[in-house]
Amino acid sequence: MDSRISARALTLALGGWRTREPAYEALADGIRLLCLDNRLAPRTALPAERELAAALHVSRSTVAAAYRSLRDTEHISSLRGSGSVTLPLRGRELGRVLEGDGAIDLQQASPPAWPGLAGVIADVAGSSAALVSRSGYDILGRRELREAIAAHYEDRGIPTSPSEILVTTGAQSAIHLLASVLLGRGDRALIETPTYPHAAEALRRAGARLVGVPVTTADGWDLDRAEQAFARTLPVVAYLMPDFQNPTGRSMTPEERSSIRRAADRAGTILVLDETTADLDIDRGRVDRGFADADPRSMVRIGSLGKTVWGGLRIGWIRAEADLVRRLIAARSVQDLGTPEFEQAVATQLFSRFDEIAAQRSHVLRSGRDAAASALALRLPEWRVPHVHGGVSLWIELDAPLSSALVMEARSRGVLLSAGPRFAVDGGHERHLRMPFTSPPDDLVRAVDVLAEAWPRVRSGAPVSLVSAFEAVV
Ligand SMILES: Cc1ncc(COP(=O)(O)O)c(C=O)c1O
Repeated sequence: MDSRISARALTLALGGWRTREPAYEALADGIRLLCLDNRLAPRTALPAERELAAALHVSRSTVAAAYRSLRDTEHISSLRGSGSVTLPLRGRELGRVLEGDGAIDLQQASPPAWPGLAGVIADVAGSSAALVSRSGYDILGRRELREAIAAHYEDRGIPTSPSEILVTTGAQSAIHLLASVLLGRGDRALIETPTYPHAAEALRRAGARLVGVPVTTADGWDLDRAEQAFARTLPVVAYLMPDFQNPTGRSMTPEERSSIRRAADRAGTILVLDETTADLDIDRGRVDRGFADADPRSMVRIGSLGKTVWGGLRIGWIRAEADLVRRLIAARSVQDLGTPEFEQAVATQLFSRFDEIAAQRSHVLRSGRDAAASALALRLPEWRVPHVHGGVSLWIELDAPLSSALVMEARSRGVLLSAGPRFAVDGGHERHLRMPFTSPPDDLVRAVDVLAEAWPRVRSGAPVSLVSAFEAVV
């Protein structure tokens, strides 16, 4: 057995699971969704029926019936005497949709490759003899690429030397490496909620206790809560996405930046700014990124070409003061021994065409955003759809807290999405749905059609008390 989840943790992860009748099917659906999202890994032992029933305040027969339903759909198996465990997902459930099967996969917010990329790859392949002439491992990253990344920061008014750059295999490995070096067991890490879920997981894995600070599309960062959280919990690290926060698409205002910076300074917190989506600007031309004058000892930046160029390239980086870069290098060898040279050579060339790339991205994302927003306004006017100026997704407010139920229903109709709670830090966000606009506009319009057909069914199946309770608060 690999791992187990306690009744308390499962209850928290399930959040507002009671979205339809009968309750046991709603509970089974909630657990299925956790498996599909990989929040419940395969071979995780589920709590005993009696414990889960007590934690959820339902009868033991409800949990028994939910587990039976999950056994019937082969999401779990149960052995007398040793409880129930989740099973590996099968075929289509595994995530990425197979080409030609007609489904629309909106689980990842990942734009198609920049069209010029294949040409750059061919070019670099032409000079591969020179590329392989060097031997040994390069944990830090190619000098030419670090220079190009440093120059990119200089262009933004952030003086940077190549010795302050460490090239990683994507931003995800940068987050993981930073978490493992900066955090110890029991340390507090401040994080936005909703947030990018794989960052939250990386911080938790490093032993951190997460302190969530709300961000909303309408009002931005909750500065009162942020100030209190900094002062009360003295977090070691604050992981934030100041530009085109994923999933809300918000950018921090100058006031938000300075308030967060002051609070972090007072608490002695290192700000880790994830700028993976910062160049995905649709409307405003160049964004003022702020934080430019911050003390480099208390600020780390993460960047990536994953969304600006292509997720498959796996090039990311960390910008940090040289001492921290040295600590990161020392710790990195445990997890990998550098970033592939070929991809680094490709990335170096890409930086010389950055403006062209950013303009193309802006165009692609504008078409996606506008297609999704107008289809939603037409088909689902009861939902609140924010206007965002960049990033990769819309964080939609539904008119009932039924995001998980909707995602399950849409899935059965061939549209794969992630429900709001996937992005939550301590549960919640059942009234939100993330809709990436990185897919082709036609797919987005088709996906909205499916959601519009599914929504009345989801809403009518929900217990009346749930929908009316929600209506009372909005
Ligand atoms: C905010 C954020 N950070 C990091 C990543 C991971 O990026 P990479 O593909 O460079 O590992 C993503 C990808 O979705 C992201 O949205």
